[in-house]
Amino acid sequence: MSVVRTENAATPGEPAVRQIPFHRPSFDERELQSIEEVLRSGWVTTGERTREFERRFAAYVGASHAVAVNSCTAALHLAFAAAGIGAGDEVITTPYTFVATVETICYLGARPVFVDIDPATRNIDSAAIEEKISARTRAIAPVHIAGLPCEMDPILEIGERRGIPVIEDAAHSLPASYKGRRIGSLSRATAFSFYATKNLTTGEGGMLTTEDVELARRCRRLSLHGISADGWKRYRLGGKWFYEVTDMGYKYNLTDVAAAMGIVQLEKLDAFDARRREIALAYTKRLGDLPDLALPCEPGHVRHAWHLFIVGLTGAARVSRETFIERLTDRGVGTSVHFIPAHLHPYYAEKLGHRRGDFPRAEAAFDGAVSLPLYPAMTDDDVDYVVSAVRWALAPSR
Ligand SMILES: Cc1ncc(COP(=O)(O)O)c(C=O)c1O
Repeated sequence: MSVVRTENAATPGEPAVRQIPFHRPSFDERELQSIEEVLRSGWVTTGERTREFERRFAAYVGASHAVAVNSCTAALHLAFAAAGIGAGDEVITTPYTFVATVETICYLGARPVFVDIDPATRNIDSAAIEEKISARTRAIAPVHIAGLPCEMDPILEIGERRGIPVIEDAAHSLPASYKGRRIGSLSRATAFSFYATKNLTTGEGGMLTTEDVELARRCRRLSLHGISADGWKRYRLGGKWFYEVTDMGYKYNLTDVAAAMGIVQLEKLDAFDARRREIALAYTKRLGDLPDLALPCEPGHVRHAWHLFIVGLTGAARVSRETFIERLTDRGVGTSVHFIPAHLHPYYAEKLGHRRGDFPRAEAAFDGAVSLPLYPAMTDDDVDYVVSAVRWALAPSR
């Protein structure tokens, strides 16, 4: 099926075709001005802006320390490294995630041990974690899929009782909370993403939060080649040329240009969050009657960050996922699929010895998953349009 993508190009009885991309970031003059100030200052890499972003971010999520890095992948890698994870160790996580969670465990020579998901939330099934713990388990790494917090109390309880640190992948969950506490303040370390599509973006970027001052210091050092604390100041006027390398580190520092964006985006975050919530509630209300779709949930004791709105095609769906996506594309509605379970990717299937059938709930969740557009720049008309396009795309014959 092919439709000319111009306004009002629809045939009678069909909605007019518009363009609703899967994602569009929200910037205005304030980000431009903030970046311009950094460029004019003559100092564009890690510096005072980055430190200010860290302070504000830590205060926002209620964490004692925040370390800015250039991706969530970097934050995860540093958190695992700083927790002392190494060759032969095991880290418990979910297969239903983006590959970054899994690869960062493997960077250190450790093995990801997968626990299948709870189909109602798409998050790791906290009740099934304990049986996967072995003498080699060195961390539990829950991922708050789509921005919906995992069931953290039992996860933190197991971690505490067994002496195993919990390291959260919170790439999607800014701002989210669990029983009134913001994600970023609950566990040994939490990793956030500021990738282009995320709820707060710096183009590329990430943040690690922790309550542990030593862990924060170590991650900061590792994020810049293992150079002693103030090494980044050495090119500043009056800065000392001498520095020492005390660890084998990485090049994961965030730039002041990115931090300048981040500070402004953080100021807007509550407004972004409110708009995301409005859109998610509108979808929930207006698509909830369709037997074809299982919609995301928000249990009363958590607050969802609504990074993604993942619908699941049910057994009652009258069209296949491919047809559904194709029809939405033809109506100008961008979609995506989150996530191909990590154990199904050829590299990890071979490396870890997994195959389809090993984690049936994650596989079933993936098989029916389609993510709809959800971002603050969507207008009410855009939301109306997506709702009618979804209803139209689910009809059995076109
Ligand atoms: C669950 C999850 N973890 C980690 C990442 C990695 O984030 P980044 O691109 O900032 O490294 C992503 C990115 O989309 C993600 O979805």
